[in-house]
Amino acid sequence: MGDGDEARLIAGGQTLVPLMAMRLARPKRLIDIARIPELAFVRKEDSAIAIGATTRQHVLEHDPLVRAEVPLLAMVMPHIGHAPTRARGTLGGSLANADPAAEIALVAVTLEATLAYREGARAIETAAAEFFTGPMTTVLPPTGLLTGARFPIWRHARVGVGFHEVSSRTSDFAFASAAAQIALDEAGICRRAALGIGAVTSVPLRLDRLGEKLENLSFQEVQEKPIREEVAALLSDQDVFSDLHASGDYRRRAAAALLIRAIFDAWRNADQTAVDVIPAERAGLRPANESLNPVISVGRAFTQAVDYWVPARAYPLRDDTIVHLDVNGAARSVEIEPRTSLLDCLREQFLLTGAHAGCEHGVCGACTVLMDGTPIRSCLMFAVQADGHAITTIEGLTPGPGELSIIQDTFCETHGMQCGYCTPAMILAAHALLASNPAPARAEIVRAVSANLCRCTGYAQIIEAIALAAERMRGLNRPATGP
Ligand code: FES
Ligand code: FES
Repeated sequence: MGDGDEARLIAGGQTLVPLMAMRLARPKRLIDIARIPELAFVRKEDSAIAIGATTRQHVLEHDPLVRAEVPLLAMVMPHIGHAPTRARGTLGGSLANADPAAEIALVAVTLEATLAYREGARAIETAAAEFFTGPMTTVLPPTGLLTGARFPIWRHARVGVGFHEVSSRTSDFAFASAAAQIALDEAGICRRAALGIGAVTSVPLRLDRLGEKLENLSFQEVQEKPIREEVAALLSDQDVFSDLHASGDYRRRAAAALLIRAIFDAWRNADQTAVDVIPAERAGLRPANESLNPVISVGRAFTQAVDYWVPARAYPLRDDTIVHLDVNGAARSVEIEPRTSLLDCLREQFLLTGAHAGCEHGVCGACTVLMDGTPIRSCLMFAVQADGHAITTIEGLTPGPGELSIIQDTFCETHGMQCGYCTPAMILAAHALLASNPAPARAEIVRAVSANLCRCTGYAQIIEAIALAAERMRGLNRPATGP
């Protein structure tokens, strides 16, 4: 990082790779920190939950310690992108990216988290509110490395959380968001309140004065008007965003309305700290604390002719590098340029053309494959990052040559495909869902495929196909056989 060669760090890459695809970022060198084990952890440290920078967002969504001790953080996770991007996206990546609409940044500021980073040998800690200095800018020096964050644990017996945001559709960037964490005493009186709003200004904002005003109030004494007035006063001297999606006035009013909802939600659930998030096993994800890959390796320098080093196997320095993958159950090795995406590797090296290239910046989901059983965007990672992992493509789901899997069969039966461009990704998403949740509710099916766009808009039949496949896999609703 310090050699002046414009290096950028990458861990999840769910923002950086799209920026590179759109030529908005052109780092000369990438340094992959995703496999440094010391940077991926969730642990209790005295009065805080410490989380390593490369801890994946889907781990935080389901981690029991996070859900119990920092429930607001667990609560916002499903609002970040989609499940396939959360499977790769990291806590530190989101914080260092400093998008004004980012949910993790809002929680960090609201709960007064402490962020830790290193510059060379120097270890530095800063309050979250001082870390963010503007849209996509932080105090992190160009050669700095964010190492983690500590979220304070509230010791009160009754803590409730609430979060709301508004965007044009699920997973899009929010126009406004609000978060609340409230502690009540045995009589239901507020003893502490942490409140924040995001996405309306260049950095998330805390509402300390309003939090103090809520103290010593009962639920019946909370009025909406003072909340609106506090939000208006806070934003009166701020540069509130205004664009073709939402005017500044709309964002002001939305922030106040969302904060009222968040406060009321937090108050209502203050007698329980468990958050209603989907258990990992029902969302088609791996258990929260299970490492995705036991191989410890450090990849670096993906865009230049430099080394790719895996401690367990020493590779010589050269332009191309060898990647070892388990592809559809077979061990495969390939020598490729480090900058090759996993999608291109699958299509061009292994001729697995069922993984489709659509947007190539993480929006459409056509490139979805399973990595260790979890759906991911293959256009948003480099093949070298998949080294040592198991990849499943649509070609790996067929039971034998010329045969269709049950899910493929029901897609045909219900007309779950039209042009077929989105179909392999839809079927892989369905496969991951049904592998862990054999009897999904309709809402769970919708959520499982919500990361995938169908240009032909055949969603109703796609959902019907997956529901029918679930029944067939449970031995129900089998097709009639014979005359
Ligand atoms: Fe990868 Fe669109 S999300 S091609
Ligand atoms: Fe055409 Fe979905 S069937 S894109």
